[in-house]
Amino acid sequence: MNPLESATPAEQVITIRSYLTPGDERTLADDVLDGLTRPFKELPPKHFYDAVGAELFDRITELPEYYPTRAERSILVAESARIAQATRAAEVVELGAGTAEKTRVLLSALAAAGTLRRYMPVDVTEGMVVRVADELTSAFDGLEVHGIVGDFERHLQHVPPPDDGPRIVAFLGGTIGNFTPGSRRRFLRALARLLRPGIDHLLLGTDLVKDPRILEAAYDDSKGITAAFNRNVLTVLNRELGADFDVDAFEHVAFFDREHEWIEMRLRASRRMSVHIAALGLDVEFAPREELRTEISAKFTPERLADDLAAAGLNLEQVLTDDAGLFALSLSTPAG
Ligand code: AVJ
Repeated sequence: MNPLESATPAEQVITIRSYLTPGDERTLADDVLDGLTRPFKELPPKHFYDAVGAELFDRITELPEYYPTRAERSILVAESARIAQATRAAEVVELGAGTAEKTRVLLSALAAAGTLRRYMPVDVTEGMVVRVADELTSAFDGLEVHGIVGDFERHLQHVPPPDDGPRIVAFLGGTIGNFTPGSRRRFLRALARLLRPGIDHLLLGTDLVKDPRILEAAYDDSKGITAAFNRNVLTVLNRELGADFDVDAFEHVAFFDREHEWIEMRLRASRRMSVHIAALGLDVEFAPREELRTEISAKFTPERLADDLAAAGLNLEQVLTDDAGLFALSLSTPAG
C-alpha cells in the first residue's frame, strides 16, 4: 500500500444515504389492509424480513435442501473471472445487498482485473449497509462505497448515474422470482434504465425449472426452518400492527405450480378464526383450511428468461449455470 492510501481515513471513501422516511411503516399497513381484504388473501414476501426473519432466511440458505445459494455461489466462484473480463466493470450496484457474502467473490475478480473502483449496495437495513461498507473498504484497497439505504422497489431513482467506467447492476439470489410476471418485466425495465447500452450489464440470478420434488423440498425442509420463516410474517403483523394471529394455528404450505412455473408458499388456517388487527381497526375472517398466499418464487427456463429480458429491452448475452444446472446467472445489456 502506498503512503497516500494508508493516510486516507476510511470515512472519506464511504458515503451512505438513507431514503427511508417515517411514513414507510405505512407500506406494511397498506399491504396488509389491501392483501387481507381480497377474496384470495395474500401478503407480499418483503415483510418476512424483520430481524428474526432475516436470521431464519440465513439458516435456510445453509439447509441441505435449499440449493440456490450454494449453486449461485459456485457459479460466481467458477465464472467471476469471465464476468470481469466480459464487463470490465468499474462499479457494482447491488440490489438487496445484505451482507454481500457472495458479491465479494465478484468484487475480488474485478479487483484482480484492475477495473473495480466503486461498490453501491442498496438495502433497507441501514446497519447492514454500514457494516458492508466498513468491511469492503477494509477488504479492497481504494474501493469507494456509496451505500443506499432504501427499498429497491421504490428508491431506484436515488442510484446515481454511472461514474466513469462500466457498471454492473447485480440482483442476485433469485429474488426477481418474487415478482409476478407483469411487475417482473416492469422492474427489469426500471433496472435497464440504470444501464447504458453495450457498456453496462445486468447480472441477474434466477432459479431454474427442475424436478418438482427438488423444488418442493427446498421450500419445505425437514427441519421446519422454512415453515418457521413463513409463519414469522404473522408475528411481524402481531408486533407491528397489534394483530392477534394465533401463529401456531397456521400450517406451512409450499408447492410447485407447474402451469405458472413458480413455487407458492401459503399459510393454511387450521380452523375458523377471526383475527383483529388493531392498527387498522380491521377484523379478518379465516374459514377452516383457508389459505393465505405469502410468496411466489418463479423458476425460469433459459427461453423464458430471454423473453422476459427482451420484453424489458434487455439483450441476453450470457447464461452461466452451475455444474448441476440448478441455477443461472445471466448477463444482459440494454438493446441499443
Ligand atoms: C430470497 C426470494 C430468493 O424465493 O428462494 C426462501 C426466499 N422463501 N425460502 C426464494 C425464500 C422460502 C428466497 N428469495
